Amino acid sequence: MDDHETFPQHFLWGAATSAYQIEGSPLVGGAGPSIWHRFAHTPGRIRDGDTGDVACDHYRRFREDVALMRELGLKAYRFSISWARVLPGGTGAVNSRGLDHYEQLVDELLAHGIQPMATLYHWDLPAALDDRGGWLNPDSSQWFAEYSRAVFRRLDDRVRLWATINEPWVVADGGYLHGVLAPGHQSPYEAPRASHNLLRAHAASVAAYRAEGRHQIGLVVNLEPKHPASPSPEDAAATQRADAYMNRQYLDPALQGRYPEELQEVFGEAWPGWPPEEVAALRARVDFLGVNYYTRSVMRADAESWPLRASAVRQAGATYSETGWEVYAQGLQDTLSWVKQRYGDVPLYVTENGAAFPDPVPAPAAAVVEDPLRVEYLRAHLRALRRALVAGCDVRGYFVWSLLDNLEWAHGFSKRFGIVHVDFASQRRTPKASAHFYSSVIASNGRVL
Ligand code: FCB
Repeated sequence: MDDHETFPQHFLWGAATSAYQIEGSPLVGGAGPSIWHRFAHTPGRIRDGDTGDVACDHYRRFREDVALMRELGLKAYRFSISWARVLPGGTGAVNSRGLDHYEQLVDELLAHGIQPMATLYHWDLPAALDDRGGWLNPDSSQWFAEYSRAVFRRLDDRVRLWATINEPWVVADGGYLHGVLAPGHQSPYEAPRASHNLLRAHAASVAAYRAEGRHQIGLVVNLEPKHPASPSPEDAAATQRADAYMNRQYLDPALQGRYPEELQEVFGEAWPGWPPEEVAALRARVDFLGVNYYTRSVMRADAESWPLRASAVRQAGATYSETGWEVYAQGLQDTLSWVKQRYGDVPLYVTENGAAFPDPVPAPAAAVVEDPLRVEYLRAHLRALRRALVAGCDVRGYFVWSLLDNLEWAHGFSKRFGIVHVDFASQRRTPKASAHFYSSVIASNGRVL
C-alpha cells in the first residue's frame, strides 16, 4: 500500500443479496417451504401482501444477473443458500437438485472471475424445523451443523469464503421478541433462548467446517454505534443497554465466551442465566467477521420501551433513508475501529452497507436511473471505510447492499436498496447511477473516492 493506493491490491469489491429476497420459485426443484414462505402467505404480515414467490426471479435468471455483475466489474458476490432447497425437511434427506442450483451459480460466478461468498443462513429456516420449535429447540445447533456439512461437501472445493449466520440479532429481535419478521413471535422469554441457540448453531457449523473445510468461515453481525441523547446518567445507562443488546450480545460470546452483564438487566426474570461452561462453549475461532453497517442510534432512557427501556431519538438536520435510518457515515469507521479495539485483529469484511431512497421510475427505454442520494451515501461510507484502513483496520472487502432492488422483508417491494433497478412486472434490470459510480470505484481500486 502506498499513498496512491489505500485499498489493498486484492480488495474484494462486491455486492450482496439473500435467497428469499431475490430468488423466487420458492418451491421449485424439490424445495420445501421456509418460514418466510409461510410468513409471506399469512395475511397482514408483509406490506401490500407481497411475497417472495417471484421476487427478482433470480433463481431462473441467475446467469443474466452474473453477466450484469461482470459488466459492473464486481470482484465478489455475497449470496445466501436456502436451507429448505438443500434439506426440504430441514434434516434428513438431501435434495441434490437444490445443491445443483447453487453449484451452477458458483460455477457461473467463477467463470466470470467473481469470487463467491456464501451465507448459510439468511433467515429462511425450513418450515419443517419451525414445526419442531425452530431456534427455540436446543437441537437446532445440530440441525444447522448437518445442513452446513451437506453444503460444505458439495461446494467447499470452489467457495473460499463462508458465513454461518447473517445477523443473529435481527433473527432474535425481529423473529422472537417483536415479531415483525418470521416466525413472528413476541416474547422476551424466547428471544434470549433463540439467540443462545443461534450462537450454538454458529459454533457447531464452525466446528463442522474445521473438521472438513479448507478455506475460511466467519460470522456476520449488524453493528451500529449507540450514542447518548444527553449527558444524563439515565441516558448513558440506556445507551449501554442498547449497545450490549445489539453490538455485544453476539460478539462477546462468539469471540470471548461470555455474555455482556447488561443483558440480565435488560431481560430481567426472562434472562435464562446460562451455566458459565455453556457460555464458554459458544466461543469459536473464526477466520473473519462480517460487519453489516447501515446507521447509528442516539438513545434516551424510556420506561415505556420494553424490555430495553431505551429508545432512539431522531436528529434534527440529519438525512434519513426510507427505512428511517439516519445517514451517518462516520459510524462505519468508528464501528470497524471499535471491533478492532475490543476483539483484536480479526480480518473484517463490510458484508452489507447501503440505503433505500425513493428512486425515480425509469422511462421505458431509460439507460440509467438517477439516484443521487444513494451515490452520496456510498461515496461517504466508502471514504469512511478508507479512513478505517488508514487507521489500521484489516478490512479485506466491501459488499454493497444490494445488487438488485428486492423483497425488503416485511416492507415488501416498497423499499428499494438496489444499485440496479428492478421493474418487478417485466423483470427488466436498469443500472442506477450508483451502479456506475460503484463501477468506477472498483475500476480505480478506490482512487476516485
Ligand atoms: C439487513 C439484512 C438484509 C437487508 C438489509 C436492508 O439487516 O441483512 O437482508 O434487509 O438489512
